Amino acid sequence: AQSLPPPINDTSSKLINDADHPFMPLRPGDIRGPCPGLNTLASHGYINRTGVTTPGDIITAVQEGFNMGYQFASFLCYSAFITDGNQLTNLMTIGANTTTDGQLATGINTHGNFEGDASLTRDDAYLGNNFNFNKTLFNEFDVAAKEVGNGVITFEAAALNRALRINDSIARNPEFAFETPRFLGGIAETGFFLAMFVNNQTADNTMPLRIEDARSFFDFHRFPDGFYRRQGPYEFPLVKNVTYTLIDMIGRQPGNNNGVNNYVVNPEDPATFCYFYQKQVNLTASLYPNPTPELEAAIKANLVTYYNTMQDPTCEQYFPYGQ
Ligand code: HEM
Ligand code: MG
Repeated sequence: AQSLPPPINDTSSKLINDADHPFMPLRPGDIRGPCPGLNTLASHGYINRTGVTTPGDIITAVQEGFNMGYQFASFLCYSAFITDGNQLTNLMTIGANTTTDGQLATGINTHGNFEGDASLTRDDAYLGNNFNFNKTLFNEFDVAAKEVGNGVITFEAAALNRALRINDSIARNPEFAFETPRFLGGIAETGFFLAMFVNNQTADNTMPLRIEDARSFFDFHRFPDGFYRRQGPYEFPLVKNVTYTLIDMIGRQPGNNNGVNNYVVNPEDPATFCYFYQKQVNLTASLYPNPTPELEAAIKANLVTYYNTMQDPTCEQYFPYGQ
């Protein structure tokens, strides 16, 4: 198992779409997936342009390219890696599974492991393709921006857009699943684009996102020309703050559809990041019921790394394979 890379030192704003990191179109076999942040980093060479990579490379790249905070980046990456990546080789992809040089690299497209429903620009797996851009869904940004944002994606418009996308899944997907971790993840992702996709951000990081810049990331996987990353890291405390503020504004709780237009809240779901971690650990244990000794040792080490990314002693630690 890999250990975490060191944090980046300089977290000031700087030019990211630079001469060393030009956008390049996809070549045959290059993999992209449901995350516009990772797709864009790959298309500019901040992570391997093939889309096949490792947790360490992703953690460094999301700090470098977007100023996602080191600790939160490590948490987020391991949340996906332990369920979607290859625990033995550390290979993971930002989309579909693939084999390179005989090594299996598994990816974040897998529905229900980390990828989930009510995405902003990708269909629910039940309704269609869960990783390709869908223009009809993207148009909901326009709707929300016109309604409450004077044509740009303000915090209020982003919250409205998040709510509209949830309402749409409730109305059309009989199997809509929106418990933690997807509940927190899906709402946190609205915070991500507000915090990290805005170009030439002000010092207080509160500028709205323009629709054409949103399109550049979500659809074309491309940094806008002259893109400067945000000022200072988007780190765990801030992520939590924004996510719970959005939850209050949206007024939804974790739950599932029991048939279309029948959203049933799960009162047992506490919607905390400790519970998010617990659910990912349980899922990992269910994916590998009988690992070989070598695989088991790797998973155990990765689960310890994952727990440590939270740096929260109030979260209980879980050892499904023993200590
Ligand atoms: C969505 C993984 C970093 C922005 C997703 C999804 C995955 C994912 C699996 C799909 C969830 C779904 O909609 O069903 C990761 C991992 C990261 C990472 C493993 C590693 C740290 C980032 C960064 C940004 C970002 C740095 C922004 C700068 C987004 C946004 C979405 C998303 C806005 C929502 C897309 C949509 O709903 O259409 N991410 N991501 N992510 N990610 Fe990432
Ligand atoms: Mg999705």
